[in-house]
Order: sequence, then C-alpha cells, then structure tokens
Amino acid sequence: MTVVKSPLPEPARQVTFDALQGTLVDLLGISLIGKQAHWNIVGPRFRSIHLQLDEVVTTARAFADTVAERAAALGLPPDGRPETIASAFTLPSPKEGWLRDEDVVRVIAETLGAAIDRLRERIGTTEKADPVTQDLLIGITAELEKQRWMFEAENWPRED
Ligand SMILES: [Fe+2]
Repeated sequence: MTVVKSPLPEPARQVTFDALQGTLVDLLGISLIGKQAHWNIVGPRFRSIHLQLDEVVTTARAFADTVAERAAALGLPPDGRPETIASAFTLPSPKEGWLRDEDVVRVIAETLGAAIDRLRERIGTTEKADPVTQDLLIGITAELEKQRWMFEAENWPRED
C-alpha cells in the first residue's frame, strides 16, 4: 500500500532508504551510548567529558530526526523501535558499569569513527540514487567528524 508518494523511482528509493535507515540506527544507538557514558563516567576529567557527551547526544538525536523524516518524505517508513536498534546496532559500545574517563574518550572516538566510515560509504551509494539525501549525509558526517576530533584531542597523549 502506498501511503506517501515517493519522488524517487525504484531502485533508487530502496538504496536511499537503506542508507537512511542504517544511519538512523547508528544515530539512535549513539544517542543511547552517549547517555550511558554521561551517567557512568568516573575520573578526574568527569565534568568536561560528562558535558561533552551531552553534545554528542543532542547532535545524534537531532540528526536521527532529520534522517527519519527524510525516509518518510521518500515514502518509506523509518523504523526507530528499540527492538530494531537492539538487533541492528553494531558500532563499538562501552562496557556495562562505571567507565573511566580515559576509556570513555577512547570508546566514543571509536564509535564515532566507525559511524563516520559508514556514513562515507553511504555518501557514495546515494550520490546517484538521491543527491538530496546525500547532501544530508554529508552534513551529518561533517558534524560527527567535528565531534570525533574533539574526543581525539581529549585522548592526547596516547598510550599506544
Ligand atoms: Fe545529564
């Protein structure tokens, strides 16, 4: 049943939807991870990283809304249910329980880095399928790369 008419033909619509749905899962997962780390961080750098994590959460939530609404606008329903996120989310995630500040910085940088790698792939797949969606993904990537830079800077000097 067609509820919302799509401006895209098949298969461009499905390619674009897959990119948006995958990005939605990653962003919603990042928003959960960000809060998990925000609540469980311990250590001398608690305050600054605790606050920085909320910036990640705010960014991820805002972009999750953007990509979900783009999918809906293309005539395909986004799926942001918790069971969908739980089964589809595969980015690096912090361990359960209290988290040392240095471990938080490391894992969040890894999570953002993995998300960015996927976004850059999706920028490629949407280039011809839907440049409007590609433009959204480029903007999201730029912001996540900025967030990752700040965590990488926090991570200096490295132990490895
Ligand atoms: Fe808080």
